[in-house]
Amino acid sequence: MSFSFTPERRAKLDALILRYPKKQAALLPALRLAEEQAGCIDFDAMVHIAEILDVSPARVLGVFSFYTHYRRPGTGKYLVQVCSTLPCALRGSDAVYDALSSELGIGRDETTKDGMFTLKKVECLASCGTAVCLQVNDDYIENVRPEQVPEILRKLRGGA
Ligand code: FES
Repeated sequence: MSFSFTPERRAKLDALILRYPKKQAALLPALRLAEEQAGCIDFDAMVHIAEILDVSPARVLGVFSFYTHYRRPGTGKYLVQVCSTLPCALRGSDAVYDALSSELGIGRDETTKDGMFTLKKVECLASCGTAVCLQVNDDYIENVRPEQVPEILRKLRGGA
């Protein structure tokens, strides 16, 4: 197995586990800690977490695959998630998504050849009042219009 938590992250996870009535309930934060450590969550990380939490690897995979926000292997430097739930849809999220897809030359769940961007459509990002909402890694970009897409990507490419 090629993944194991660093001693610091394992100590964090052990402290988190104590907050829950059952250690299996710490699965989501355990996945987050693995993602922080490795930049994404691969199968080895899921097996490691399963062993720590006394659950099956299939259980970890099931939870991991339910949530779109965890980074998969091969995810680009910028994970661009476009909310497609009704409030954002009514404010034009399809057009924003199409503009991103066109500018990047990729479709849903694809990554640009240079490894910079992965594009996803996701459900509500809990910022409905500022539709259309994008999430780029851990940051929100709100009130997005299709015509803003080139500038958003330019700033990301420039690291701004
Ligand atoms: S519907 Fe888009 S953030 Fe809630």
